[in-house]
Amino acid sequence: MLTQDAGESLPTHFDVNYVWEYASKEEGLRNLYEKSKLNQWNAATDPDWSIDVDPEAENVPDQSIPWYGTKYWDALNERDIRRLRHSSQAWSLSQFMHGEQGALMVAAQLVNCVPDIDAKFYAAQQTADEARHVEAYQLYLSQKLEKEYPCNPDLRTLLDQILSMNEWDMKYLGMQILVEGLALAAFGMQNQMTREPLIKDITSRIMADESRHVAFGVLSLREFYKDVTEAELRVREEFAVEACYLMRDRLFPKVVWEEFGLPVSEMIEIADKSKLLREFRTMLFSKIVPNVKRLGLLNDRLREQFGKLGILGFEDWEPSA
Ligand SMILES: [Fe+2]
Ligand SMILES: [Fe+2]
Repeated sequence: MLTQDAGESLPTHFDVNYVWEYASKEEGLRNLYEKSKLNQWNAATDPDWSIDVDPEAENVPDQSIPWYGTKYWDALNERDIRRLRHSSQAWSLSQFMHGEQGALMVAAQLVNCVPDIDAKFYAAQQTADEARHVEAYQLYLSQKLEKEYPCNPDLRTLLDQILSMNEWDMKYLGMQILVEGLALAAFGMQNQMTREPLIKDITSRIMADESRHVAFGVLSLREFYKDVTEAELRVREEFAVEACYLMRDRLFPKVVWEEFGLPVSEMIEIADKSKLLREFRTMLFSKIVPNVKRLGLLNDRLREQFGKLGILGFEDWEPSA
């Protein structure tokens, strides 16, 4: 029997689409599908799980904690610092794992709702990729960190929104362009900082898959927004802006702060003022903005909103896909 927190249901409604023409029509998508077949890996056996991990070691430099050097940091003793590193790492990787479950379910929904055979094939490949990502994080959390946190409520809100949408293009926009674009940048920065070889290897493998997933979104939506109405366009812009604010401002490890008796609202204030965190958060959008532009969504309205978010500077960056 399932315990209360073992699972939960979310009512959704979206149209599924059959296709009756099975021949490939989209060469780019078909190539991506072929690449994906060649690049599968096994989460259970490919990473070197024999590597010993000390979850309390400085696997990520302490200086990357936004409140490093504040009075709250200085009040910690060596034992607290070791416990904090462990909890922080477990919290971040738990959120990655929950996000991967969201990606798993959205990719499976896309198999059903996209109206084109090449996209259905690729979405099926992505579904297998995402299952492997959930598996890899779960193994790392259970075997190496022996600690796990529940899904951050704001991440959950975003995943619920994407899963509940009826329009398939908005599932792509939410997952492949926004969430996975952000994840790709976050994984990249995480990987530059980490000194722990096992998680570095796992993250590198996941990133290679994620860059294909972002490419899948870009290829699938490439021509789509040329033909939508002004009203439909506004709905997409508003959703994109809302999701960006949520991803930038609300994904804080509040439960970890509470665990250490730290004042949450003050910690948010400190984090908001941290130059390092501001730069880190800005970099999270380095893949999203060029891809939104590439889809033809970056009009003057969205440009103004991205300007307010401080991320418009990325518009001419090389898109990741
Ligand atoms: Fe993934
Ligand atoms: Fe993905």
